[in-house]
Amino acid sequence: MLTRTDLQKMKTENRKIAMITAYDFPSAKTAEKAGIDMILVGDSLGMVVLGYDSTVKVTVGDMSHHGKAVRRGAPDTFVVVDMPFMSYHVSQEQTMQNAQKLMQETDAQAVKLEGANEEILRATRKLTEAGIPVVAHLGLTPQSVNVLGGFKVQGKDRQAGEQLLRDAKNLTDSGAVALVLECVPEELAAIVTDEITIPTIGIGAGPGCDGQVLVYHDIVKYGVDRLPKFVKTYADFNTIGIEGVEAYISDVRQQIFPAAEHTFNIKDNQLLPKTN
Ligand code: KIV
Ligand code: NA
Repeated sequence: MLTRTDLQKMKTENRKIAMITAYDFPSAKTAEKAGIDMILVGDSLGMVVLGYDSTVKVTVGDMSHHGKAVRRGAPDTFVVVDMPFMSYHVSQEQTMQNAQKLMQETDAQAVKLEGANEEILRATRKLTEAGIPVVAHLGLTPQSVNVLGGFKVQGKDRQAGEQLLRDAKNLTDSGAVALVLECVPEELAAIVTDEITIPTIGIGAGPGCDGQVLVYHDIVKYGVDRLPKFVKTYADFNTIGIEGVEAYISDVRQQIFPAAEHTFNIKDNQLLPKTN
């Protein structure tokens, strides 16, 4: 399993970090088998596997439930678990308790928090001091979608860009182990990557980041319809899945399935009455 030190070294040596989300046992198992560097149990699970229209409905219980399954599927991979909506905003005490619960129940290597206001910086510092590594997240922060006014590219003008760079530096100073940059112009992401010492992991943030993260179901087109511009797909589970299920339905209806090889028999046929 990679460590914080390994990730840091990858940045220094310009070896890109490949990260993917996972939400359950099979996706985690597949990601680990394929050799992924890091797994994110993203609160995107609310949209991707629970069918909500944002991440706002996701609870600490949901994150723990899915995080545990991911850990069982990928016991040897660096796992980051998202702290969900409002689980780190009410009070410092509640933040610590929620992070403790997620770390202890899922056995993760780090938690992820969105934003960089005073409270988030303080929480990042306190969690780090308590032994809980924090991954930060700037740019498009989906938990604030209702404040941002939609899923839009962030940091496009000079003022917003300078603010994002300041935020990134503050998060680094507060002890964050890595920074996710979501939906920001590549020029800005490249500057931030250059200017801070911790690895940046981009999603819709161009090739200049130290690593990339994408949503599992987007990469393999599984249960998703419209995809954002920044996604590249590498498989089409939707098509394969529908074709497979259609073939199964057809086989059942035509009595092709089950065949003899799928069927069990008793040892002595004499024991049962003849049915036809
Ligand atoms: O929840 C998620 O999938 C994320 C990534 C998009 C970074 O936070
Ligand atoms: Na997230």
